[in-house]
Amino acid sequence: MELLIKNCNIVDSSKKTIKQSDLHISNGIIKNIGKDLKNKCDKVINVKGAFVLPGLVDIHVHFREPGYEYKETIKTGSLAAAKGGFTTVAIMPNTNPVIDNVEILDNLKAIIKRDACIKVMPIGAVTRGQKGEELVDIKSLYENGVYGFSDDGQPIMNEEIMNKAVKQCNELQIPIMIHSEDKRYVNDGCINLGRVSEKLKVKGISRDAENIMIKRDIEIARNLKLSIHICHVSTKEAVCMIRQAKQDGVKVTCEVAPHHFSITENVILEKQAIGKVNPPLRTYEDIEEIIKGIKDGTVDAIATDHAPHSKDEKQLDIQKAPFGLTGIELALPITNTYLLEKGVIDIFDLVNLMSINPRKIMGMDSRGIEIGGYADITIIDLNKEYILNESDIISKGKNTPFIGMKLKGKVKYTICDGKIVYEEE
Ligand code: DOR
Ligand code: ZN
Ligand code: ZN
Repeated sequence: MELLIKNCNIVDSSKKTIKQSDLHISNGIIKNIGKDLKNKCDKVINVKGAFVLPGLVDIHVHFREPGYEYKETIKTGSLAAAKGGFTTVAIMPNTNPVIDNVEILDNLKAIIKRDACIKVMPIGAVTRGQKGEELVDIKSLYENGVYGFSDDGQPIMNEEIMNKAVKQCNELQIPIMIHSEDKRYVNDGCINLGRVSEKLKVKGISRDAENIMIKRDIEIARNLKLSIHICHVSTKEAVCMIRQAKQDGVKVTCEVAPHHFSITENVILEKQAIGKVNPPLRTYEDIEEIIKGIKDGTVDAIATDHAPHSKDEKQLDIQKAPFGLTGIELALPITNTYLLEKGVIDIFDLVNLMSINPRKIMGMDSRGIEIGGYADITIIDLNKEYILNESDIISKGKNTPFIGMKLKGKVKYTICDGKIVYEEE
């Protein structure tokens, strides 16, 4: 398959350049980059000066298969990811069954091979059944094709187990991705403990649940002199702790989710359980510190925590409804609307936060668009403005408070291994 892409604006975040050029892709590899390329190709597309980025990578999604196929499958999730501009995603293991042994992993790998239109990297559970009690066989899962370990959705309360897991993952040089939440401070809460929880008279989750556990996890990394990755940072205190830890030389990376740098707990007043997510939506002061962290490099990556749920589940009373927001199709427009458009970051930072740094965290090839590199490419139009409709979302999960809100920026094409896996109508 030969593909020629005419009139690209190729964004190189390492050199901070935007190069006007054509792009010739042959059998999944970038064959040539240059002006007025005239190769005979199976397909020629003219992107008319659109930004051409290295394929976006989302290191934190929930695709729900096996077990919760009514919420999402590998097929529907990967199609939604392609629409969101992602060429690679890492899928969390809180499925049913949990991805905690090789047999279950093999089954998942077969589904991915059959159904995924992009690169889907399975994450293995850290503990059996994600119960936090007994470590899985980390080495055998690694040897059989997991790309990281996480008990995401559940904290690992036992510090000894966490220590062992961090050591074993570091020996294999594979990321351990931590959902830092101290259960003792959750108190059956369903949203941020504060003004909104008081107003609605619902139980709140103390921000200590996140802060105290992140403090513990940073100390583990500090004492062991080993790497950890912290998922979905949402409080101002957590950002400050991670900033300080990095300055101290602790090997910690972290991600933030688009909903945590763009909207506050206030949306719950209007949208109830649609705004219920864990960690919860916080306050404007938290957003301010997260944005500071994005600017100064404390935050390494943007990851969606795409967590689709059914309509019925999200229409339940806020106390009973499940945590989670659908997000993989919205990461680019939310990042553009709330960070680029506001001058917080530039297009090079966006590429680092959504493609290069996520690749580094996952141990992937983190070069940009280069001759000889594999052709995972995202082509975007940042000028399109629209009100998000539910019908725009192709994921099975429509559970996002952004429906009805104005967003700017769209994906035009997603190309994975040289194949067009998404094309805007
Ligand atoms: O909101 C969330 N949803 N947070 C998690 O940690 C898990 C996720 C899910 O699996 O739905
Ligand atoms: Zn989580
Ligand atoms: Zn998650």
